[in-house]
Amino acid sequence: MARAVLGVIGGSGVYDLPGMEDVREERVVSPWGEPSDALRIGRIGQTEVVFLPRHGRGHRMSPSDINYRANIDAMKRAGVTDIVSLSACGSFKEELAPGCFVLVDQFVDRTHKRESSFFGKGCVAHVSMAHPVGPRLQERLLAAGQAEGIDVRKDGTYVCMEGPQFSSLAESVTYKQLGYDVIGMTNMPEAKLAREAEITYATVAMVTDYDCWHPGHAAVDVASVIAVVKANASNAARLVARVARDFPAEHESCPVGSDTALEVAIMTAPEM
Ligand code: ADE
Repeated sequence: MARAVLGVIGGSGVYDLPGMEDVREERVVSPWGEPSDALRIGRIGQTEVVFLPRHGRGHRMSPSDINYRANIDAMKRAGVTDIVSLSACGSFKEELAPGCFVLVDQFVDRTHKRESSFFGKGCVAHVSMAHPVGPRLQERLLAAGQAEGIDVRKDGTYVCMEGPQFSSLAESVTYKQLGYDVIGMTNMPEAKLAREAEITYATVAMVTDYDCWHPGHAAVDVASVIAVVKANASNAARLVARVARDFPAEHESCPVGSDTALEVAIMTAPEM
């Protein structure tokens, strides 16, 4: 069995992971280009943890400019078996108020100018995205959140928009009517690439605002997103620390096949 290594990708407002020990930085060279930043590799308890700030330290990369392929490739090269994605998001549900964490289980991809696959010319693969989130990893996040007294909800649909502008009122109302729960700009193609890399993936969508559909709340702006993310950051750190401390030493197989995704995905015939 493979050793488990926990990857953590930090989103807006999460540029470091307090609680990591024996930390070293590694700049990974990837054939897909430059990852967003150096990997910070250390441990929490007995678990090896690899942290990457998605936008780079100081938030230098916009969602459309992030090299998602290089980021996931860097994580794979560092031996990561499971990724926890920490991501700020807007909410389409009254009950998903700013401050709560949603463990989404589905994604809708509305991005349109991002490289979204490791495959293509020469080798064609179609991985399943029917169940994009690893249920065991999600369960661990839920248990850790509850144990830490954090307002954490299980399941929900995350629509990923291209950005960088926030949604218009018509878009926001449409997504709400479609039944989506939260909106962000970064989890696609990240989740798709994690699946292609056979890394189990789960998102903690940290609600920062009600986007612009809510008549009782002003339209979202960056200042309010940052204020809530800052308030949430210590909850995110405690949640990840608890998951890491309780993480199994050996990688546990994924019930939805995240870790074996390529076994049934490659169309191209092997070379004779
Ligand atoms: N990230 C945080 N809030 C958001 C929103 N309302 N729309 C898109 N991305 C977000």
